[in-house]
Amino acid sequence: MLTPPSPLLSTTFSFSMNCLLFVALLQAALVVCSTNSKSPLSPAIENYDVLQYVNPLIGSRNGGNVFAGATLPYGMAKAVADTDSPSNQGGFVLDGSRITGFSSLHDSGTGGQPSLGNFPLFPYVSCTDDQVNGCAYPKNLRRTTYNPNSVVASPGYFSLIMSSGIQVDMTTSHHASLFRFRISSNQTSSPLILLDLTDLSDSRQDNGTISVDEATGRLTGHARFLPSFGSGSYLPYFCVDFDSDAGIRDHGIFVNSRASIDAKNLTVSRSINGYPLPAGGFVRFNHRQTHTIQARVGLSFISSDQACRNAEDEIAGFDFDATRSAAVSQWTEKIAPIRVSTAGVDSSVLTNFYSGIYRTMVNPQDYTGENPLWSSTEPYFDSFYCLWDSFRSQLPFLTIVDPSSVTRMVRSLIDTQRHLGWLPDCRMSLCKGYTQGGSNADVVLADAYVKGLSDGIDWEAGYAAVQKDAEEEPYDWSNEGRGGLASWKSLNYIPAEDFDYVGFGTMTRSVSRTLEYSYNDFTIAQMARGLNRTGDTEKYEATSGYWRNLFRADQNSFISGTDTGYRGFFQPKYLNGTWGYQDPITCSEIDRSGRACSLQNTGAETFESSIWEYQFFVPHDMATLITLLGGPTQFVNRLDFLHDRNITYIGNEPSFLTVFQYHYAGRPGKSTARAHFYIPRFFNPTPAGLPGNDDSGAMGSFVAMAMMGLFPNPGQNVYLITAPFFESVDITSPITKRTARIRTVNFDPAYNNIYIQSATLDGVPYSRNWIGHNFFTEGGELVLALGPNESNWGSAVGDVPPSLSLVGATEF
Ligand SMILES: *[C@@H]1O[C@H](CO)[C@@H](O)[C@H](O)[C@H]1NC(C)=O
Ligand SMILES: *[C@@H]1O[C@H](CO)[C@@H](O)[C@H](O)[C@H]1NC(C)=O
Ligand SMILES: *[C@@H]1O[C@H](CO)[C@@H](O)[C@H](O)[C@H]1NC(C)=O
Ligand SMILES: *[C@@H]1O[C@H](CO)[C@@H](O)[C@H](O)[C@H]1NC(C)=O
Ligand SMILES: *[C@@H]1O[C@H](CO)[C@@H](O)[C@H](O)[C@H]1NC(C)=O
Ligand SMILES: *[C@@H]1O[C@H](CO)[C@@H](O)[C@H](O)[C@H]1NC(C)=O
Ligand SMILES: *[C@@H]1O[C@H](CO)[C@@H](O)[C@H](O)[C@H]1NC(C)=O
Repeated sequence: MLTPPSPLLSTTFSFSMNCLLFVALLQAALVVCSTNSKSPLSPAIENYDVLQYVNPLIGSRNGGNVFAGATLPYGMAKAVADTDSPSNQGGFVLDGSRITGFSSLHDSGTGGQPSLGNFPLFPYVSCTDDQVNGCAYPKNLRRTTYNPNSVVASPGYFSLIMSSGIQVDMTTSHHASLFRFRISSNQTSSPLILLDLTDLSDSRQDNGTISVDEATGRLTGHARFLPSFGSGSYLPYFCVDFDSDAGIRDHGIFVNSRASIDAKNLTVSRSINGYPLPAGGFVRFNHRQTHTIQARVGLSFISSDQACRNAEDEIAGFDFDATRSAAVSQWTEKIAPIRVSTAGVDSSVLTNFYSGIYRTMVNPQDYTGENPLWSSTEPYFDSFYCLWDSFRSQLPFLTIVDPSSVTRMVRSLIDTQRHLGWLPDCRMSLCKGYTQGGSNADVVLADAYVKGLSDGIDWEAGYAAVQKDAEEEPYDWSNEGRGGLASWKSLNYIPAEDFDYVGFGTMTRSVSRTLEYSYNDFTIAQMARGLNRTGDTEKYEATSGYWRNLFRADQNSFISGTDTGYRGFFQPKYLNGTWGYQDPITCSEIDRSGRACSLQNTGAETFESSIWEYQFFVPHDMATLITLLGGPTQFVNRLDFLHDRNITYIGNEPSFLTVFQYHYAGRPGKSTARAHFYIPRFFNPTPAGLPGNDDSGAMGSFVAMAMMGLFPNPGQNVYLITAPFFESVDITSPITKRTARIRTVNFDPAYNNIYIQSATLDGVPYSRNWIGHNFFTEGGELVLALGPNESNWGSAVGDVPPSLSLVGATEF
């Protein structure tokens, strides 16, 4: 086991000494040191309850697909009302769709098939004629509307009133949910609650089982289901106990529309003639005019016994309020490291910000102790859904505010590679998810490495894992690793219509895969450098330049028959070295060609984004890219064209960095302006307020980091400085307890003064338009003087972030 030099690889600057190092072009360096000791921070930001500004319903309609229900940070139990919306990937959708049940496992913000949603409960006020056969059991018959004004969601809590009048609230511990059903009825009949052996996608496989305990009415069982966007299957277990003031009347099982109180055990098939067979168990309760029935749902991926133990340990006394307040405490503690000044800003701005932060911690999910696939003392996290989304800003954000959790996630990724052979690019429900582009776990590991995460991380094993991505082609590279490595090594690009008989995967995306593999290799080089592997460092720095091989200098771009005037775009290239052609706007927001841009075999040479947008994906060598694109002015014009002409789609992650890449052309003010162009117009604190799938909190992290005024270039020790949306921002490292403060002068809540005029760091003038991770671990005060016009702050050649071709990786 080997750890990187603490706390950072970079030795070029140290904030603790008040030294600034300006890396000038041509590698000339000037060190400016202050002999003053660090100036004290200005008075602390006022304390307030941040959870009042968290609205879990943001993104709960219009394709945000967020999980809007009750959960703990990284919690496995996720309780919510599931609806029959066509966009119910996260379970609940606030779009007038009908409730089909209340289930306890979910993902958040995903695409793919609706994920998890296993073992829904469904309550009935009574069954017709008080007969168990008088209830409508199948999902499509039982589904009911709810009062949209009754929906209440807050961290650790979700509640609504069904059209049957039943009020349902729910909260969770880490592996168990607690549902409280409040039922009123003047009839003398019995309420019934069923458990359906189903999931959101009706993907149940063979031999789901349920048993009803004669004495207690406890429901235990399991069933096998399919993952949302991946291969294989998963097998969750449940254990449900009821707590009712009226007592249990009887119980049994149901199949399809028929039920029995005599049968107590059921093993059910997958589907009948393709139609998913409704089947499960139920418990009826004695009549009372007003009932409170609680259902405690223990969950496990190991066994029903473990599901029962989880519930008994975590929610011993069915104490709803205590369970809820424990959840509130955990959320409060997790969000505590980051606090912004409320001065002048509307509460909607605060809600946008803190809700984004909240969503970064809903997924991934901590399944430690619940992994049936291998035994290990390492942590196990699931729902990296997908790293292609979360490497860009979600995991970097968590590295700032919750480094100990990211450390555990990295250990989990390395342990996953140790046992399954490969790092995932995507993972959900204990299954391998599909790879969308590169091997982006490489970026995740490198980001953690260059930011000094070390506690218990076996970095030698981590390095071996990323190096394997670069060197060895898996047989099935649709699930892991990279395809086309033979061509990559001999031709130095991924060819369109590659010939690859070593491994198998979707033979598309040659342009975006070339760009992603190049960047992945750069991040591997950074780790190699830190681990003193000089040969590897040079090798992967060289291969990180392969993106150039697909740059076609004379390529033009016409939009609706009009020449955009820009020359030089990436293009596909065949095995024989001949250029192919993909219109640079194909797969963009304004593409009307109808071409498949996802994982189809007929797909494009770019994944879910256009050549126009991928044109900017050279995060490690922007200086060379800017030169190829005609210099800083042309580059800035192109970025403006990308955004102003709606070519980019801010609702998908490849757009994120393009908002801030003006920094590399010495125009950091335009990055701030661009952040304000998108927030709140495309990200606002309403249920329809997200422009696309939240993708496990990726969109949430974009909002959080853009609004705090520091955006990461992931995999590098670089944060791009923009004006925050608040007068000041405090980020206190949970590990070192040091506070990094960003304070503005001339803050204007109307956001006319959004341009940085000058800056100081700990009292010393600071002209670089970026900052390193030391700011967060060591603390300090970055003061930004704002004004209404763009200034020349951060515009000099020595002020821009590092690029490989200019300064070498040591300066990152
Ligand atoms: C039960 O009857 C009472 C008195 O008639 C009435 O106020 C109440 O609304 C009824 N409740 C339900 C659930 O029907
Ligand atoms: C399901 O159960 C049947 C009957 O016990 C058994 O023959 C079959 O192998 C089981 N299928 C699976 C996938 O476990
Ligand atoms: C259900 O299964 C349990 C455990 O196998 C058994 O003890 C019980 O008798 C069964 N109940 C019925 C009604 O078959
Ligand atoms: C790499 O080499 C430097 C200089 O010799 C040394 O200080 C450092 O500890 C080494 N790092 C590792 C990870 O071996
Ligand atoms: C190269 O390969 C492509 C795709 O198969 C083909 O269209 C093209 O004609 C070839 N070029 C030459 C020079 O052989
Ligand atoms: C871009 O899209 C927005 C709506 O999202 C629209 O208002 C605007 O006119 C579009 N701009 C162009 C140049 O098409
Ligand atoms: C900002 O620029 C505008 C337009 O050039 C100019 O009229 C105005 O005086 C400038 N404001 C400041 C504070 O420099």
